[in-house]
Amino acid sequence: MNDHDSQVAVRPYEADGIRELDNNLPSWWVGLFVFNVIFGLLYFVYVHGLGGPSIAKEYASNLAQMPAAGGGSSTDPDDAKNVNSIIGDPNAIAAGKTTYSANCAPCHGVVGEGTIGPNLTDNFWLHGGAPDKIYLTVSNGVVEKGMPAWGPVVGDKKVREMVAYVVSLKGSNPANGKPAQGTEEP
Ligand code: HEC
Repeated sequence: MNDHDSQVAVRPYEADGIRELDNNLPSWWVGLFVFNVIFGLLYFVYVHGLGGPSIAKEYASNLAQMPAAGGGSSTDPDDAKNVNSIIGDPNAIAAGKTTYSANCAPCHGVVGEGTIGPNLTDNFWLHGGAPDKIYLTVSNGVVEKGMPAWGPVVGDKKVREMVAYVVSLKGSNPANGKPAQGTEEP
């Protein structure tokens, strides 16, 4: 104990030589406390009385908004086969083109003619030219050959749209097309 004892309010009790000051709580703390109590009451009424969404419902609706397969890539062969339904869909092709221009053009050329990566407009494929094969290549990448895995980056929906776009390029025969790589597929 020191000289200040006489000037500050101190609680009258003492335990093992420890005493407690008797200050008012800071007003910001009291304000937060009051705010939290009022907020808690209102929230209780909102969720339990007025039908506001429960945490479980909010979770379910957030999950439902995520792209298929939880937002990431999919290695499920059934998912790959389902990509056929999007082939030829003009909206998917247009959306796929936008994603392609932003992510793929540096390596595959503005119209798929090929630069670092192979030409995507010819009939020759390193990893298969069927939609489900293209889906797996784009989603999972060929990382050791410099083709990134796009599923985790852009999400499953955009991968599917890009498959529709890549398939639509077939036979477009752009200028400066990169020489064929891989095996010919009809
Ligand atoms: C950093 C450069 C790079 C980027 C960016 C890139 N790719 Fe590739 N891509 C490659 C390379 C390199 C290969 C060839 C891999 C191999 O040799 O096995 C390839 C292969 C492919 C193939 C298989 C071609 C075949 O002959 O089987 C497809 C399809 C493909 N890319 C689509 C895409 C799409 C769609 C995007 C954009 C989302 C993209 N790529 C972005 C480098 C890239």
